[in-house]
Amino acid sequence: MNAIECRDVAVFYGRRAALWGVTCQVPLGCLAAVVGPNGAGKSTFLRAVAGLLPVQRGEIRLFARPIAEVRSRISYMPQRESVDWDFPLTVLDVVLMGRYGRLKLFQRPGRLDYERAWEALRHVGMEQHAHRQLGELSGGQQQRVFLARALAYDADLYLMDEPFAGIDAATEQVLLEVVHELRDAGKTVVVVHHDLQVVASVFEWVMLLNLHMIAAGPVGEVLTAQHLHEAYGGRSALLSEVVQRVALHREVMRRKGA
Ligand SMILES: Nc1ncnc2c1ncn2[C@@H]1O[C@H](COP(=O)(O)OP(=O)(O)OP(=O)(O)O)[C@@H](O)[C@H]1O
Ligand SMILES: [Mg+2]
Repeated sequence: MNAIECRDVAVFYGRRAALWGVTCQVPLGCLAAVVGPNGAGKSTFLRAVAGLLPVQRGEIRLFARPIAEVRSRISYMPQRESVDWDFPLTVLDVVLMGRYGRLKLFQRPGRLDYERAWEALRHVGMEQHAHRQLGELSGGQQQRVFLARALAYDADLYLMDEPFAGIDAATEQVLLEVVHELRDAGKTVVVVHHDLQVVASVFEWVMLLNLHMIAAGPVGEVLTAQHLHEAYGGRSALLSEVVQRVALHREVMRRKGA
């Protein structure tokens, strides 16, 4: 079964299409990246899959069901610039909010919710900041908190919009560990990422987007010189380096398999 299945999807803002004719699949339990230039429609794609934007044409199915039926199994982490970080909430509040999708209306968080929230904070190394206001934290610390919130939710499909943007090496390490753990636990993780080198060495599945889905599939099949040229145009020095890296990665995987 596929975690995500898009068939001929189009999404418009007003009269302008941000996604057009997008067809792709993401297999269950894989670590997938969405890549493409600025304005390519990556955030739009994630929001549409999360059921936060209407799809004007085509169809998106998650776990072989319509989105509305599986909403509670999805965790969505927005791109940082798109969120107002100044609301007066503590770190623990924000992580507990990750549990609210699991609570019934007006039900207060119980012991299990608190346990899960603390566990998630420990997981990302933020428990000592639990009672601070979110607004006082640095950008990278905030990113960790939002990762903890996604973890506390205990979803089956994690959609993360550029969680790797603007973080230090230690936070990047924490993030990488967490996405691998989620994947190892059978979850599907979809991450928007700008660093093609990292994508080539860490992710298994890639969607290369630029209004259209240029290619989607295993890393080695998608990140080819031709596809990258189609998506990004002619910045060839950078791209040929990526292609080399992918070829190396493929060779390593082949040897591992042999
Ligand atoms: N709320 C909106 N209203 C109108 N147009 C929008 C809106 N959000 C995005 N767009 C437009 O849709 C297109 C795709 O935007 P999107 O944010 O999905 O790109 P992206 O691939 O995530 O880019 P980035 O790498 O810069 O985050 C862009 O042309 C953008 O200007
Ligand atoms: Mg974006």
